[in-house]
Parts: sequence; structure tokens; C-alpha cells
Amino acid sequence: MTDCRAVLVTGAGSGIGRAIALHLAGQGFTVFAVGRTAATLADLTGEGGERIIPVTMDVTDEGSVAGAMTQIASHLDGGSLYAVVNNAGISVTGPIERVPDADWRAQFDTNVFGMMNVTRAVLPQMRAAGEGRVVNISSVTGRLAPPFMGVYAASKHAVEGLSDALRREVKQFGIKVSVIRPGFVNTGFGDQEQAGLEPYMQEGEPYRDSLIKFSRWHHDKGHKAAPPPHCVAVEVERALTDKSPRTRYSAPRKALWLIAARNFLPAPLVDAVTARITGIS
Ligand SMILES: NC(=O)c1ccc[n+]([C@@H]2O[C@H](COP(=O)([O-])OP(=O)(O)OC[C@H]3O[C@@H](n4cnc5c(N)ncnc54)[C@H](OP(=O)(O)O)[C@@H]3O)[C@@H](O)[C@H]2O)c1
Repeated sequence: MTDCRAVLVTGAGSGIGRAIALHLAGQGFTVFAVGRTAATLADLTGEGGERIIPVTMDVTDEGSVAGAMTQIASHLDGGSLYAVVNNAGISVTGPIERVPDADWRAQFDTNVFGMMNVTRAVLPQMRAAGEGRVVNISSVTGRLAPPFMGVYAASKHAVEGLSDALRREVKQFGIKVSVIRPGFVNTGFGDQEQAGLEPYMQEGEPYRDSLIKFSRWHHDKGHKAAPPPHCVAVEVERALTDKSPRTRYSAPRKALWLIAARNFLPAPLVDAVTARITGIS
């Protein structure tokens, strides 16, 4: 059975968001696919057909979000969005001590405040409709913070906390909130993370030696060795269609093991295993 309800997907121009948009359109959903520029969305509509409607929006800019919502409302012609998939995100990497405030702020502006800008904009119509789904893309790092990814992990821990509180607040309106925790997935995210590490691997940087090892592990065993993003899209579909959606979904399978280790092993053991796996012990 196809499902033609309307879903807004942010960060749909690439990687996981693109896979989500295409998969949901394939299941019959009407997808408002958000990107920062029309150019990144152009071939998406070609591939996904008329069920994908491109919308430009910068999630960090409230004016841009409001403009996009007006555009979406005119498409829906009195109808409302059934769901939002908050997927847009960036990753700031580097040692906690060395990453400048401006980069911390950019991280939280996109992954946390950007997510809330979009969520605030869609909740009134979901409350009025008496139903809706909010799906927030977190990460395994929202539960388990690896070294040199602390800024990103902090933003995803924030996503986890705000999602729990939001779920408890909006249940009374028939709105359900789920978090997706992807592990490593093969997208361009890895290149962004590698580039972020480079300044801290220069001569004279205090974390240089361990960062070089970490970077090698991240390059060889991280995103490039990971499965494509379709596996995450399938979990998003479950969060949208399960009658009683779970609070957490994860993909690929390896992510479940990492989260279980974090949940059940003592912290010193998790520290030791993390150091060993990433090569910095
Ligand atoms: N790949 C992984 O291994 C992995 C693992 C765990 C979690 N995640 C999460 O999955 C999500 C998607 O990541 P990805 O791997 O698909 O990386 P990606 O290909 O870099 O996608 C990120 C998307 O976010 C969009 N974006 C960034 N800042 C934005 C802003 N201010 N306004 C609107 N859109 C913005 C980007 O749009 P532009 O094209 O305009 O830059 C891009 O389409 C992120 O939340 C990430 O934290 C990824």
C-alpha cells in the first residue's frame, strides 16, 4: 500500500538525507526535500519523480525556514505535513581543548538550533491536525563519544536529550518523536571530518601523534568501509509507519553493538576498547 502523506526531509541534497527522500518517495510519500541550494536538489527531483518537491532552506536562518514553510503551505493547499525528518547536520572534529568557540557555535547552530528552528515551525500544524511524527537524526555518537569527535558528539547528545523531552511534551497532541542513531555510513561526511582534523595534526599541535593514528583509523575503517545510506532510510520509514514507533532506531547493524557496549559495559572498559579500536592507546 502506498502512503502519500507529506514529509519534510532536511539535508536532502546528499548522503543520508538524499537516500531518505528517494526511499520515502518510492514508498509513495510526498517529500519536501530541503537543501541549502537549488543546485544540490536538481538531480534528486529527476531521480525521484514528481513525489519529490525541492525546497531551499538554511536551517540556521529563521527567515529562511519561515519562507520555506510558506512555500510548503501553498503546495499543501490547506493540508498539513505529516512528518519532519531533521537530518541536516555538520561535523566539527578536533580535540575539545583546541576547537575554537566559533566552530563549537557553528556545530550547535546547525545540529541543535537548526533542528529546533525547523521543529518549531512544523509543530503548530501537527498539533492542529492532532497527529504527526518528528524523526531526529542523531548518531551513535549521541550515546558514545569518541575522542576527537567531542564537539559533534556533544551536539548529538543534545539532540538525544531534547528529543526525549519533546516526545514527552507532544504525546498529548498525538505527535510521536523518534531518534535515529546511524553508525558509520558511506557518505561525504567522512571527508568533512578528515578535513576538520587537519589543522590539529600540524607540527607543534599537542594532540598531533594520537590524532594521526585516529585519523588513519577513521579514514580506513570509518565511512569509506561502511555501507551506503539506504539502511538508515529504511529505519526512518519504520519510524514514520510503525503504529507505535520506537524511541530509538539504529543502522547499520554494527551501530547496535556499539550502543549495547556503551549501555552495559563499565566506562573504564569502554574507554580502553575505544582507545584500542581507534589506535590511540
Ligand atoms: N554519515 C555518517 O556516518 C553519519 C553517522 C551518524 C549520523 N549522521 C548524521 O546524518 C545526517 C546526514 O549526514 P550525511 O552523512 O548524509 O552527510 P552529508 O552528505 O554531508 O549531508 C548533510 C546534509 O546537511 C545539509 N546541511 C548542512 N548544514 C545545513 C544548513 N545550515 N541548512 C540546511 N541544510 C544543511 C547539507 O546540505 P548542503 O548540501 O547544502 O551542504 C547536506 O545535504 C547528519 O545529521 C549526520 O550527523 C551521519
